[in-house]
Amino acid sequence: MTSIPIHANDRVFVLTGAGISAESGLPTFRASDGLWAGHRVEDICTPEALEMNPALVWDFYSKRRADCAKAAPNPAHIALAELEAKLGERFFLCTQNVDDLHERAGSHRLVHMHGELAKSRCSEDCGAPPVEDHGVYASLSEVGRCICGARLRPHIVFFGEMPLEMGRIQKEIDRSTLMLVIGTSGSVYPAANFVHWASRNGARAVYIGPERPLNAGAFTAIVEGKAGAVLPGLFVVEESVPPAQ
Ligand code: APR
Ligand code: ZN
Repeated sequence: MTSIPIHANDRVFVLTGAGISAESGLPTFRASDGLWAGHRVEDICTPEALEMNPALVWDFYSKRRADCAKAAPNPAHIALAELEAKLGERFFLCTQNVDDLHERAGSHRLVHMHGELAKSRCSEDCGAPPVEDHGVYASLSEVGRCICGARLRPHIVFFGEMPLEMGRIQKEIDRSTLMLVIGTSGSVYPAANFVHWASRNGARAVYIGPERPLNAGAFTAIVEGKAGAVLPGLFVVEESVPPAQ
């Protein structure tokens, strides 16, 4: 059984994708029966789609909110929360996922670079902060309004929009010594570049998933398997050496 040693001076940067939530019953995007099957991304996940057909966009994200509410964290989410508990500020988790399964598993040092299903924000970008919103809306008329009066939109980063928290992500990559990438096809940028940024700094990089990602060549090791099956027990954390008395 493969194991990943985590040394006493390692700083770990974890990037997760839809694959880590697959064993919680949430579909990935690019699998043959995935979220994009039967949809054109352009019709759902772009600013133009929101402008042209807000009802379709809200229907898609309302359905995903309903699915997410029925899902539970799986052993992979829990293994990452346990690793964070051991490493503390030497651990950082960046997820491309918009579900809240990492939080519900106990992860705290985490950013959602593609936004969050459980939040909505002003569709006119008036500057009001995103609001907590678990609403599953049967029609557009049910969707709430921003304080400025504009309709709310899902707090999701659409294609063509800037990912969130890139400053903090870059800083954490720059100081990482080990990058773990879990359950992502490596199809979407800038996330698919993170492994190259880390390797340039001399970090080790391990991919974990059942299929080789598109950027497989950039990794120092690949652990083939489902995250929920391989993550528990995968990490061997070296006790940090207590400071000399
Ligand atoms: N454990 C680990 N990985 C898995 C599992 C599993 N049980 N099941 C599937 N996978 C892997 C697949 O092999 C695939 O590589 O998860 C990956 C899912 O890839 P995608 O569907 O492309 O999802 P992701 O890489 O997260 O997409 C990135 O694209 O559509 C946008 O914004 C969306 O954040 C998303 C981004
Ligand atoms: Zn507003």
